[in-house]
Amino acid sequence: MYNEKVMEVFKNPQHMGEVENYNAIGTVGNEVCGDIMQITMRIEDNVIKDAKFKTFGCAAAVASSSTATGMIIGKTIEEALKLTNKQVIEELEGLPPQKIHCSVLAEDAIRLAIDSYLKGEVPSKEEK
Ligand code: FES
Repeated sequence: MYNEKVMEVFKNPQHMGEVENYNAIGTVGNEVCGDIMQITMRIEDNVIKDAKFKTFGCAAAVASSSTATGMIIGKTIEEALKLTNKQVIEELEGLPPQKIHCSVLAEDAIRLAIDSYLKGEVPSKEEK
């Protein structure tokens, strides 16, 4: 069902886990399948220094989240907010039509995480 690129990323995903001392966090559920995605980030001086994901999603969710986090590390908040699931799918050289919804998880979680940072909703290290 998946192309070689997706399988390659799925078998060797990058940026999995939780960023130590994160100051941005976004958790979303997928309306279509009910799977969950969480993205944590460390943002300093408006730049995403690190980003990691955890998911209960499928291979497409893992591959798209690994790719999406890789695409936003080192970017400014404004640049990261422009990332779309279409760009992630292009980077993965395509996803099966029935798996497009899985790639939306990462895009949504990134937006929520940045939102939490901008609103100052993430507890400081001492409070976690
Ligand atoms: Fe749920 Fe892919 S089927 S994330």
